[in-house]
Amino acid sequence: MSHTLHPMRKPRLQRSELAVPASNPTMIDKAAEGAADYIFLDLEDAIAPSEKEQARKNAIQALNDIDWAAKGKTVSVRINGLDTHYMYRDVVDVMEQAGSRVHTLLVPKVGVTGDLYMVEAMVNQIEQAKGYSTRVGLEALIETALGMANVEAIAQFGGRLEALHFGVADFAASMRARTTNIGGLNPHYPGDQWHASISRMVVACRAYGLRAIDGPFGDFSDPEGYKEGARRAAALGCEGKWAIHPSQVALANDVFSPPEVEVTRARRIVEELRKAEAQGKGAASLDGRMIDAASERMAMNVLVLADAISAR
Ligand code: GLV
Ligand code: MG
Repeated sequence: MSHTLHPMRKPRLQRSELAVPASNPTMIDKAAEGAADYIFLDLEDAIAPSEKEQARKNAIQALNDIDWAAKGKTVSVRINGLDTHYMYRDVVDVMEQAGSRVHTLLVPKVGVTGDLYMVEAMVNQIEQAKGYSTRVGLEALIETALGMANVEAIAQFGGRLEALHFGVADFAASMRARTTNIGGLNPHYPGDQWHASISRMVVACRAYGLRAIDGPFGDFSDPEGYKEGARRAAALGCEGKWAIHPSQVALANDVFSPPEVEVTRARRIVEELRKAEAQGKGAASLDGRMIDAASERMAMNVLVLADAISAR
């Protein structure tokens, strides 16, 4: 183990993250009563230019009127990109009018660390000016070729950055990948065409203590396809996935929760290793398989997650 350690900057339960267009107050109210761990109120791509202002107002109202934390949820706002003229007002209005109520800002299309620097500087000033005692977190969407090319540098930004998300739709567009199917597999590719990119982002996250979240799967009439994608992301180390439709929330919660057999096995691994330790041994065997200190680290990940889920 290197002496350079980056502990998790901010653990949060984020198995399911429901995208809610802030233009639609009914959807916001429904999301507050649903089962998602995380909600993001969208001001960006799901909102038409003519609705941007009203969506911003709705988001501010929902942050102030709904006690998201009491409902066991983390609430985030996806602001517009830095290449638009909506972005500065998203940050100023949301932070000035509801900055102590929003948990994180999700910054889309982050390409370079300077993008995060700008948002960080703005929220630093607004929090100071308003005298908030809370501190909003930042999350970055990696969804352009530039963002992926710089993902290791972006992950090292520090500051308020807590998580990176893989935005497969914009990423496909930016890469000019031959698809129009959000998050679906291309039958002409032997395997998962997003594997290398998700994996690269997850490595950057885990190296620098960030949560790694997988983005959207557009075909909400294909729950099996969603689950397969979620399972692949989980296998690579993602801890949650977006839901672009309420029906996907339960699927994500299911895939990203360790099943009882895994939790039991994790407990047994820790127990057996304690016994081995008492006998002066580092390794042991469980059900015919070797286990050692690395098995304990894997098992602890499962147990910490299981505890977070039961504490919800
Ligand atoms: C999300 O914003 C995506 O582009 O996939
Ligand atoms: Mg996008």
